[in-house]
Amino acid sequence: MSIEDHIHKKWMKRAIHLASLGRGQTSPNPMVGAVILDKAGKIISEGFHQRAGLPHAEAMAFNNLKSDPRGGTIYVNLEPCCHTGKTPPCVDKIISSGINKVFISMKDPDARVAGKGIRILKKAGLDVHLGICEQESLDLNKSFIYKNLYGSAYGVLKWAMSLDGRLGLKNGQSKWITNEKSRSLVHKLRTDFDAIIIGGNTLRKDNPLLNTRGLKKNEPLRVVLTRTLDLPIQSNLWDTSISKTLVVYDSSTAKEKYLDRIPKNVQIEKISSDNPKLLSKILAQRGCNKILWECGPELATSAMKSGCIQELITYLAPKILGGDNCMSPFSDFAFTSMNDVINLNLKEIRFVDGDLCLRSFIKNKINENEIYGSPPKY
Ligand SMILES: NC(=O)c1ccc[n+]([C@@H]2O[C@H](COP(=O)([O-])OP(=O)(O)OC[C@H]3O[C@@H](n4cnc5c(N)ncnc54)[C@H](OP(=O)(O)O)[C@@H]3O)[C@@H](O)[C@H]2O)c1
Repeated sequence: MSIEDHIHKKWMKRAIHLASLGRGQTSPNPMVGAVILDKAGKIISEGFHQRAGLPHAEAMAFNNLKSDPRGGTIYVNLEPCCHTGKTPPCVDKIISSGINKVFISMKDPDARVAGKGIRILKKAGLDVHLGICEQESLDLNKSFIYKNLYGSAYGVLKWAMSLDGRLGLKNGQSKWITNEKSRSLVHKLRTDFDAIIIGGNTLRKDNPLLNTRGLKKNEPLRVVLTRTLDLPIQSNLWDTSISKTLVVYDSSTAKEKYLDRIPKNVQIEKISSDNPKLLSKILAQRGCNKILWECGPELATSAMKSGCIQELITYLAPKILGGDNCMSPFSDFAFTSMNDVINLNLKEIRFVDGDLCLRSFIKNKINENEIYGSPPKY
């Protein structure tokens, strides 16, 4: 690699780092960072997209300029936009600034951009370079990319279990399987998500809070999927002073008379079937890029079967719970051959004060390799 390439990589990595500062805040938008150098190659500004509705990374960087950018270079991890949304097109800003070199890590999969931004910059005579640090940029924005390619939210399934694969005792006791540190890491994990989903049974049995305990200003939306609508009158999720709650019910099976039990501050949406994929699409349309499934075995199995899950996070406690017919993370997939089972790519193992946290990806369905093993098709 030439010294020049090394320098370009260094600035693009800086743009990617800046982009990552918006983690958990930018949906439905991607995480984007930008760095501007003057014509002598000295850094004169940088910025990142902090939250949906606020200026894009390029606009932030132009607002922060310390000197004249004419003849300079901009590094940005995603193709600059060319449409007017809540903010004006970034390509116009770049062209009018007098900058003459643009380094872009990856094309924007959003159909409104998808290469058009690059074409406009080139047509205006700018020297455009695409593809530097592309893998890092794909990794950073994989849920945004996934949602744009497939029209449903990127799904992560998380569960906690004992070493013998149990979710609780026969009498339903399950507090707590994992240690305090693991549980506080789950609060932190939630900050990366736009919504958290459980099924009606987990609501009835656990009455969870499903929030980040104040770690995130805009708490993820809490979603309950129910076929029956047989939900309790009292529930922690009905208190929406900190986090919003959405109840989604299958209108073909639910008893709508139970709607009276749900207070007016809770959002309600009816869907035509209990297919979790429908929920995943609805949440994508509501602006969610990334959702965390914290449900029990029945819904977890349906969500897996319908292709809602791309990634798995498992907390494993060094405990043996034992017992016949005790709950395990999944119900029956009805596999009859080892050729049919779900294969995973185990990507990360971490010790958490004696517990283990495993992160894996689904290998043989819609998997990460389809997202970033080969460049996304757009
Ligand atoms: N250890 C862990 O990590 C962990 C995590 C979560 C839950 N749990 C435990 O899991 C138990 C509950 O298990 P569960 O399997 O009944 O979980 P669940 O999260 O309540 O999911 C099942 C419920 O989801 C609703 N649902 C709607 N559409 C569905 C579909 N297509 N497929 C499946 N369900 C659908 C139904 O609610 P309605 O009945 O309201 O119609 C159904 O009863 C609780 O005891 C809880 O403590 C453990």
